[in-house]
Order: sequence, then structure tokens, then C-alpha cells
Amino acid sequence: MILVTGGAGFIGANFVLDWLALNDEPVINLDKLTYAGNLESLSSLQSDSRHVFVQGDIGDSALVSGLLATHQPRAVVHFAAESHVDRSIHGAEDFIQTNIVGTFRLLEAVRAHWAALPEADRAAFRFLHVSTDEVYGSLTPDAPAFTETHGFEPNSPYSASKAASDHLVRAWHHTHGLPVITTNCSNNYGPYHFPEKLIPLMIVNALAGKPLPVYGDGMQVRDWLYVKDHCSAIRRVLQGGQLGETYNVGGWNEQPNIEIVRIICSLLDELRPRADGASYTTQITHVKDRPGHDRRYAIDARKIEQELGWKPAETFQTGIRKTVQWYLDHSDWVERVQSGAYRQWVKAQYGTPATA
Ligand code: NAD
Ligand code: DAU
Repeated sequence: MILVTGGAGFIGANFVLDWLALNDEPVINLDKLTYAGNLESLSSLQSDSRHVFVQGDIGDSALVSGLLATHQPRAVVHFAAESHVDRSIHGAEDFIQTNIVGTFRLLEAVRAHWAALPEADRAAFRFLHVSTDEVYGSLTPDAPAFTETHGFEPNSPYSASKAASDHLVRAWHHTHGLPVITTNCSNNYGPYHFPEKLIPLMIVNALAGKPLPVYGDGMQVRDWLYVKDHCSAIRRVLQGGQLGETYNVGGWNEQPNIEIVRIICSLLDELRPRADGASYTTQITHVKDRPGHDRRYAIDARKIEQELGWKPAETFQTGIRKTVQWYLDHSDWVERVQSGAYRQWVKAQYGTPATA
């Protein structure tokens, strides 16, 4: 079996669902269930004995050591993190605790377990660290996309904490020989994405008749990848990635934020037209920019393609249509994740109530 951390979050839940849809290897899912963790995303696995959910913290060494000893996973896939840049600007404490201290404690527990394994199991063991393109910093408009050898220049408390965790993972390989692999992925989108992030926020706000808050001029560029393609990349790296290597994962789809918002509006105009016949674009509102906002990210994903034969299956056109349709079909999921904690966040960040 494999141990997944953060498997009740956006990417982790998609990963667990896809993993169990594709094969029968069981998953132990360790998740603290912060505001971003949501067991409802995994409700289809409720009576599935291949999924063992454990609520807990990656920084709880005794808990992690116990899980490793009891379940003897052959691999750890580490998603658990505080993941929202804006929240890291409001307060970085949880980011330091989970992304840095938590990853350190997890690495130590895994190292002790791995070191005591019989030779063949030790050789087969993997620790896959899921990271982000934000560790590389920001690109100028014409600069080449990030390769795996690009220097680390993290600019936000979030990306600095992820960069620190990447360094720890690298050091545990070089110093202790732990069999690690790291992936650095671009912006994901798709089902079960918490509506604090750009794409789900825009869909949810549009449908609620609320303003669509675009930071600054909206010309910041991100490279968007459908979440299930990220999950397939992780499976591929787990299966064939070289130990100690990092692999960039991206969708070859750079778009300015304002264009993303317009595409969402036009899909909603088609799939759920407003009662008054006006376009959802009339709800677009430019608001104060994010402090230290990175201007452009772009991933050069040639290494994973050439070495491991991975390519995204979705184009942005197909992926964003599926995503908008998913949110239209799952208004109950959206309603339920808009908890008290979510409402407080929306008020602090945007100065407006979370629901219309
Ligand atoms: P998310 O915020 O949706 O989910 C994070 C999950 O981790 C939640 O279920 C939360 O409860 C859990 N968690 C948080 N702290 C924990 C702790 N101390 N112990 C155990 N569980 C804890 O995040 P996501 O968007 O799914 O991102 C998952 C990983 O992928 C993160 O490491 C993130 O840095 C990375 N990543 C995300 C993106 C993206 O676009 N979302 C892109 C590249 C990489
Ligand atoms: O690049 C990978 C990263 O992508 C991941 O490591 C992070 O975990 C993930 O949250 C994401 O970070 P971003 O900051 O790029 O994502 P977010 O959805 O918060 O914002 C995307 C862009 O949209 C960014 O330029 C900020 C802008 N934005 C965001 C929000 C929430 C707005 O203009 N308005 C908004 O209300």
C-alpha cells in the first residue's frame, strides 16, 4: 500500500480517487482536515476498505511512525501543505509549521522506518514530495520557462516555505540516502478545488451574482494544468522517476488571469445564462493587487516528457469546460465547503460576505 499525506485536499483527493479507480493497491490517507481538507470529496470511498483515512498531523512523529510500522507502505506521496499564497501573506505561522517543520518531521519518521527495512524493501521504497513551480520565483515576459535547474527565488511566504521543504527533501537524499523524488508543478484546476483559489472562486462568485475580483491589471500569467493530469504525472514519476531527481510538471498553457476569467464567464454565459441576459463579464472588478505578486510562471515540462513519456491528456479548452460543468453539477459540495472558516476568510480578504 501507499501512504498519502493531505489526501483530503484538492489535489490529494483527486489523486486518491484516481489511484483507487485505476488499481487495487490500498491507500492510507493522513490528513489533518484543516479548513482546506474535506472528507466529502472522498465520500464515494466511504465503504471502500482499500481507503484507510486517518485524521492527524504530519508533524506528529509518533502517529506517523505508528502508521508506517502498522501498514508498511511501499511509498509515501506527500501532498499535505498550507497552499494558499494570500493566506500566507495574512499570516505565515501555519505555513512554517506544516510545510517546513511538518515536512522535516515526516522525513525523519520515514527515514527511521526506511533504514530498518529489509534490503529489497529499502531499495524499492519511495518518498515523493509534491511541490510547486512557485519556488523558482517570477519570470519576465520573454524569459524561457522554468527548467529543473532554474535557481530558487521564492517570493511569498508560501513559496519560501515550499522551497525550504524542497531543500530538506533534497538534503535527506544526499545526506541520508533516503529515496526521494520531487515534482514541481504549475497551477492546477479541476473538481474539488477549494473556492478560495482563482478558478473556483470566479465560478462560485459569478453564479452568486457577486463581483469577480481580479488583482491589479489581471495580466499576471500562470501555466494551468488539469488536476487529473498532475495526478497522472505523479503516478508516472512514482513508477519510473530517478531517485534524487526533480521533475517539472506543467500544461504548456500560459494565460493571463483576466483571460482565464473571461473564458469562465463565456462558458457560464453558454451553460447557465444569467436571468437578465447580461454576460457574467459585467461582474469583473479590478481590486487591489496581491503584495509581492509574481508576474509570470511558466513550466518547461520536457524532462518528464522525454524521460518518462508523460504528457497532459487535457487541453485547457477541454479541462476548463469539464471544470465549470463540475461546479454547476456540484452546488451541494460548494455550499458545504463554504463553512464558517471560509466565510471569515472571504470577509478578511475581500471585505464582502461569502454568500450573496
Ligand atoms: P489544499 O490546500 O487543497 O490541501 C492541502 C491538504 O493538506 C488539506 O487536506 C489539509 O487538511 C492537509 N493538511 C494541511 N496541513 C496538514 C498537516 N499539518 N498534516 C496533515 N495534513 C495537513 O492543497 P492542494 O492545492 O491540494 O495542494 C497539495 C500539494 O500540492 C501542496 O503541497 C501544494 O504545495 C502542491 N501544489 C499545489 C498546486 C495547486 O495549483 N493547487 C500546484 C503545485 C503544487
Ligand atoms: O503555481 C502553483 C501554485 O498555484 C500552487 O503552488 C499554489 O498552492 C496554488 O494556490 C496556486 O498559487 P497561485 O497564487 O498562482 O493561485 P491562486 O488561485 O491563488 O491565484 C492565481 C492567480 O489569480 C494569481 O495571479 C492571483 C490571481 N487572483 C487570485 C485570487 C484568489 C486574483 O486575481 N483574484 C483572486 O481573488
